[in-house]
Amino acid sequence: MPSAASSDPRVHDSAFLRAARSEPVPHTPVWFMRQAGRSLPEYRALREGVAMLESCMRPDLVVEITLQPVRRYGVDAAIFFSDIVLPLKAVGVDLDIKPGVGPVVSRPVETLADVAAIPDLTPEHVPFITEAVQTLVRELGGTPLIGFAGAPFTVASYLVEGGPSKEHARTKAMMFGAPDVWEALMSKIAGISAAYLAVQVEAGASAVQLFDSWAGATSPDDYRRYVMPWSTEVLTAAGGLGVPRIHFGVGTGELLGLMGDAGADVVGVDWRVPLADGVRRAGGRAVQGNLDPSLVFAPTEVMLARATEVVEAGRAAPGHIFNLGHGVLPSTDPDQLARLTDHVHSLHPDSP
Ligand code: CP3
Repeated sequence: MPSAASSDPRVHDSAFLRAARSEPVPHTPVWFMRQAGRSLPEYRALREGVAMLESCMRPDLVVEITLQPVRRYGVDAAIFFSDIVLPLKAVGVDLDIKPGVGPVVSRPVETLADVAAIPDLTPEHVPFITEAVQTLVRELGGTPLIGFAGAPFTVASYLVEGGPSKEHARTKAMMFGAPDVWEALMSKIAGISAAYLAVQVEAGASAVQLFDSWAGATSPDDYRRYVMPWSTEVLTAAGGLGVPRIHFGVGTGELLGLMGDAGADVVGVDWRVPLADGVRRAGGRAVQGNLDPSLVFAPTEVMLARATEVVEAGRAAPGHIFNLGHGVLPSTDPDQLARLTDHVHSLHPDSP
């Protein structure tokens, strides 16, 4: 398959990419969702006085912030520092990321005309992404870089609600009540997310993760009908780029099989699902996860014992990438993540 991903053979043979391809590994690879960010004092220092979206558009900051957790923890992969709403911002949607709140959209999407007013994404909208990825891939050497995008449902939720939401009531009202608007919106976002992933892979990212963080708000039947076709579109396009695809959402225990079928090589499992069950539901695919992010606040020996259980459960899958069951909580002590990384690396991936 054609791929412009990093040509460094150490990247191709890395434990992370081997596990993502369901090949044997020398150790269980580890990275953490939100490994870059507020839990790191060096991140807080760098971000002082710089707004979140502004920092995502400055290659010097993106490169440094992405590298910080790799240097500190020796994790097996870097994740590109950006946000799922950045491509919308880049095409001109009026939105901001408010500290402690999340993405806020000034004019929520309601009509077909609102959808039509959102431009498609081309590489010319995001030259700073291409530049940052290219620099990062050089600096990372043998460590793979994960590119990412938001899945259509999760991004639609911000556009329709106008901000973060627990119930996703307006989003579902559109999904159930205005199928023409819903389909136009999902199709628009699918195109933007696919294009955003392509830019990252063409600049050298060697895997992608599609975040459908809030897809767990839908039932399996509704997921199949109103969500899955457009996630499938994004993952199929990403498959054509020749890199492994990770598909993750929160509270998606009932959806794991479908999320795999949408076109994932690796199914992300949140911490509510015992990983052994997650492995079964992933239907022969590799899995990623799933230590409860709150376990970092437990005594170290409790956290490490639970991490051992996660690694043991992961042995039943053809590939396992160790991660938390959702993002690093901002009050996490980085030393706990360092201990966790070393501990998982010390366990043999194949036998007790
Ligand atoms: O290290 C990494 O994981 C890469 C960076 C990353 C960010 N956002 C940076 C960020 C990634 C992968 C994301 C994805 C993202 N953004 C998701 C999917 C992942 C998930 O958590 O489920 C979602 C739903 C968003 C939307 C979003 N952006 C939220 C909910 C928030 C948090 C609001 C808050 O302040 O608590 C953001 C802001 C954001 N994105 C921050 C970071 C580091 C915090 C802002 C800051 O540091 O000032």
